[in-house]
Amino acid sequence: MVGSRLVGGRRRIIKILRNMKKDTPDLLEKIVSLAKRRGFVFPSSEIYGGLANTWDYGPVGTELKNNIKQLWWKRFVQSRDDIVGIDAALIMNPKVWEASGHLENFNDLLVECKKCHNRFRAEQVDLQAPCPQCGEKGKFTDPLQFNIMFKTFIGSAEEKANVAYLRPETAQAMFVDFKNVLSVSRKQIPFGIAQIGRAFRNEITPGHFIFRTREFEQMEIEYFIRGEEWEKYFEYWRKEMWDWMTRDLELDKKDIYEIDVPENERAHYSKRTIDFEYDFLFGKRELYGLAYRTDFDLKNHEKASGENLKYKDPEIGEEFWPHVIEPTWGVDRSVLAVLINSYCEEDGRVVLKIPPRLAPFKAAVFPLLANKPELIKLARKIYDDLRQKFYVAWDDRGNIGKRYYSQDEIGTPYCITVDFESLEKGDVTVRDRDTMKQERIKIDELAAHLENKLK
Ligand code: GAP
Repeated sequence: MVGSRLVGGRRRIIKILRNMKKDTPDLLEKIVSLAKRRGFVFPSSEIYGGLANTWDYGPVGTELKNNIKQLWWKRFVQSRDDIVGIDAALIMNPKVWEASGHLENFNDLLVECKKCHNRFRAEQVDLQAPCPQCGEKGKFTDPLQFNIMFKTFIGSAEEKANVAYLRPETAQAMFVDFKNVLSVSRKQIPFGIAQIGRAFRNEITPGHFIFRTREFEQMEIEYFIRGEEWEKYFEYWRKEMWDWMTRDLELDKKDIYEIDVPENERAHYSKRTIDFEYDFLFGKRELYGLAYRTDFDLKNHEKASGENLKYKDPEIGEEFWPHVIEPTWGVDRSVLAVLINSYCEEDGRVVLKIPPRLAPFKAAVFPLLANKPELIKLARKIYDDLRQKFYVAWDDRGNIGKRYYSQDEIGTPYCITVDFESLEKGDVTVRDRDTMKQERIKIDELAAHLENKLK
C-alpha cells in the first residue's frame, strides 16, 4: 500500500532481505521466454530496442488478462447488489492529488550513485555494497524523497499553471465521483464503487518482468460504511480476498502470506493495512492490499472542493462522512502469479495449468492431416461451431505432437483432433491438458461436453 513506500528505512530493508527466498532466476527466465514465444507478454517497442521495464500483452496474454478482469467484474460488481462500477479519466483535476495527499506524500526514498548517476530505491540497495549498475563502492548519496507521480501539461504551454498528473491509483475517482454515483445509483450504506483501470507511477527501479512497471492496471473497490462497523467489514473483505486468490485464481494457499502492516509503515490515510504477499520467484512481495482508510478521503475532498460529500441516512436523517474499506488488486501481478502458479515441467513437456475459466483458449481444433480436404472441412465446421460459444484455437501446422506441445504451453485445457474415424463415426478425440488422457466424444455432443468440463 502507498504508505509502505513512504517510510522505507532499516526495518523495511531487513524485512525484504528476510523475505528473499532462494533466488530462482532460471524459472523466471523460462516464464519470460515462454511469455514471449507464445504471445503472452512482449518487450514493448522492441523494434526500437525496447523501453526499460515496459511490456506489451500479446494475443494470448490479452485474453488471460481480460479473463481475470472479467471474472473480477462479474464477481464483485455484476453479481452483487451493493457495488457499482465506474470508468473515470486518467488525468484528473490536479487539485485531487493535493487533497488526497499524493502531492505531498507519494514519495519513494531513493539514493543516487555519484559515479554513474543511476537511482535506486533506498530499501533495495545495500549502501555499503558496490553500485549494482557500475560496481563503484561508497558512492551512494543520502536517501532523498522523490515524488513518483507522472507529471504532464494540459494544453500547449508547459508552465506551472498547466501541470497535471497521470493518476497514480484508480481509487481517488471513486471518492471524487462519490456524490454523482450516490445520486444515480440510490445505494444505501454499506455500498461500494469499483473500477478497473490504468495507473502510472514513475517507479525508480521497476523490474522483475511485469511485477513492478511504470504503467499498470488496478482493480479497486472503495466500500463505504459507518465508522463504527469498520472491523466487521475489514474482516469480511479479508475473507473475500482470500477467496478470490484461492478459489478464483486457484493460487496455492501456501504461497500467500498475510502481513499486518505496522503503523509506521502504513499510508498516511490508513488505520489498518494488510498486504497479501505472494511467493514470487524473486521473494515474497505484495500481490494485493486491504486498507481501512477511515473517512480521510471524503472529508479532505469536501474541505478542498467545498462540495458536501456527506451521506444522509434516509431513515434518521443523520449526515456523516462514510468510512472506507479499500480492497485493491493489481491486474499485472495477478497475471504473473497465475503464470508462476500454473507453470509445470513434466513428462518432457512444459504445461501451463491455468484454471480453465482463465485460460486464453478453452479448446484447440486440429485436423489430423493438413493435406486432406475432407478432414479440414469437418474440422473447420467444428471450429466454427464451437467459436460461437468459446474462444477456440485452430492449428493445422506440423504434427499432432507439436500442436499438443504448443497448446500445452499456452494452457489450452482441451485439444480436439478430427481424424479419419471422425468421418465415419461422427466423433473426435478430446485430449485433456492436465492428464493427457484422450477420449472419443460425439461431434454433436462436443459443445455440451466442453461446457460441462469448463464449469
Ligand atoms: N489505492 C491503494 C493503492 O493504490 P497500492 O498498494 O499502492 O495501493 C495497489 O497499489 C496494488 O497495485 C498493489 O497491491 C499491486 O498489486 C499493484 N501495483 C502497485 N504498484 C505497482 C507497479 N508499479 N507495477 C505493477 N503493479 C503495481
